[in-house]
Amino acid sequence: MKLSNLQKQLENSKQYLPAEDTFFLEDSIDREKGNFALDIGCGSGYLTNILKDSFNLVVGTDISYNTLREQNYKVENVICCNSADALRINFDLIICNLPYLATDEIIDVATDGGKDGLELPTEIISSALNRLSKNGKFIFVTSSLSDYMTLIDYVKSKKFSAEIISKKKLFFEELILVKVKRLFS
Ligand SMILES: C[S@@+](CC[C@H](N)C(=O)[O-])C[C@H]1O[C@@H](n2cnc3c(N)ncnc32)[C@H](O)[C@@H]1O
Repeated sequence: MKLSNLQKQLENSKQYLPAEDTFFLEDSIDREKGNFALDIGCGSGYLTNILKDSFNLVVGTDISYNTLREQNYKVENVICCNSADALRINFDLIICNLPYLATDEIIDVATDGGKDGLELPTEIISSALNRLSKNGKFIFVTSSLSDYMTLIDYVKSKKFSAEIISKKKLFFEELILVKVKRLFS
């Protein structure tokens, strides 16, 4: 995506309020605990705040400054950046509710993943993998509306394991949770 187009979309971006996919990811982080946790694309801050109960340091990132200004669930440590690009520490848990819809254009950065639902997710995941600690876990949400198997193959090609840990059928799609770990920890 061209930088000028992205800037235009970000000017119009709005906070994504907690929805089915948010709650689906919430169910998977209930029992997670550790030192450092990162919520990429934290949006309203709903999930970031849940992580605060079980991690010593929780950071949220989002590419949309509008979203961070509007946040319904204010996050203490929040950074406006692409994925995990501005961070230099590694995390025990990284979560991300991706913009996964397969779309010809990226009009809404909260939901549109670009061609086959892969353009934005691939960039976000690639940045996240760099910040995963030795025994860390990265859990992301994707959907049957995207080419999620290609995304999983992409993760594996970077020498990480990737497995589907849960699926949830909705009226028009199936939500999919993927857990990623380092292959050699
Ligand atoms: C589907 S919403 C999820 C919001 C929230 N985490 C939730 O589960 O309700 C995706 C979020 O990712 C953000 N986002 C999109 N592309 C991003 C990127 N490259 N880096 C960081 N955040 C991004 C959007 O602004 C949006 O807030």
